Amino acid sequence: MVSSKAMVMAFVVVLAIPTLLFSSHTFAELPRLEHSLKSDGSLSLLVIGDWGRKGEFNQSQVANQMGRIGEELDINFVISTGDNFYDNGLTGVDDKAFEESFTNIYAAKSLQKQWYSVLGNHDYRGDVLAQLSPVLRELDRKWLCMRSFILDAEIVQFFFVDTTPFVKSYWNDTQIHNDWREVAPRQNYITNLLKDLDMALKESTATWKFVIGHHTIRSVSVHGDTIELVEELLPVLKANNVDLYMNGHDHCLQHISSKDSPIQFMTSGGGSKSWGGVYRPNSDELQFFYDGQGFMSLELTKRDLKMVFYDVFGQNLYEWSTTKDAYPSM
Ligand SMILES: *[C@@H]1O[C@H](CO)[C@@H](O)[C@H](O)[C@H]1NC(C)=O
Ligand SMILES: *[C@@H]1O[C@H](CO)[C@@H](O)[C@H](O)[C@H]1NC(C)=O
Repeated sequence: MVSSKAMVMAFVVVLAIPTLLFSSHTFAELPRLEHSLKSDGSLSLLVIGDWGRKGEFNQSQVANQMGRIGEELDINFVISTGDNFYDNGLTGVDDKAFEESFTNIYAAKSLQKQWYSVLGNHDYRGDVLAQLSPVLRELDRKWLCMRSFILDAEIVQFFFVDTTPFVKSYWNDTQIHNDWREVAPRQNYITNLLKDLDMALKESTATWKFVIGHHTIRSVSVHGDTIELVEELLPVLKANNVDLYMNGHDHCLQHISSKDSPIQFMTSGGGSKSWGGVYRPNSDELQFFYDGQGFMSLELTKRDLKMVFYDVFGQNLYEWSTTKDAYPSM
């Protein structure tokens, strides 16, 4: 049997746009993609999560504003933090939800860039292999969803992590069926993934290291912290000087700073249904919390990072920036 990883690699090579090259360095097992910077050496992108509801719950409004801001920032690509199709993922590659919740909604010209997506827990309730299938990429070339992978853009490396299998309660859920094909058993999958991620982070020479997963690590909203990620994933991020962890799962916008590491936790999960009405502080430092719809932008150079959260009207709700010393003292 051909492994799914080999199949994913094969389709990336065959169907990829020219800037999406498969790297020849394989330090670790995770598939690697590349995306080039703008001619001035900068990069800009949007981050959206928890969206696919056929335009409802303000999904279309958020999409329209993404189109406008995407144009303004001349974005290079879009990141989806998962829960791509509600309520139960896709039924197969012929599920009309793909068109109704993705192609028809994110139709603005500026959004016809590569999307890099991870899977959320709702995606695991459907046919996961359909979301990962190259058939969807034939229907809409901007679509790309993989389980865990690395995106290399010279000054920054994005490490996409499949977080749903970490959450133990999903494995023994008697109400909800999850598609664990090519994942089970849990412990092997998690152990290999963390080993590959740790190795890839250690080998990385990029100025910025960003990790993306669907689930929260730290959150003050409905789902709160994800204990399995706090215990198993966070130590790997802390040990490897990760700058940002970006996620969805909680349907809000929030920024939390780690108290004992440089990590910033950014939730962009406001792609559609929102207003959970829960606020529960945790022991890390809350910088910003908006319990409604919206999305996030990132602008990056080798030296500077700027992020902005926008609401459903495209209004700038919050921004945060940081700078990397070109010659760190350590
Ligand atoms: C859509 O957004 C507006 C403005 O934030 C909000 O008042 C309204 O409740 C939202 N609708 C839904 C269904 O969330
Ligand atoms: C699921 O339940 C079984 C039986 O109680 C237990 O042995 C197993 O560890 C559970 N799996 C997870 C991932 O929690």
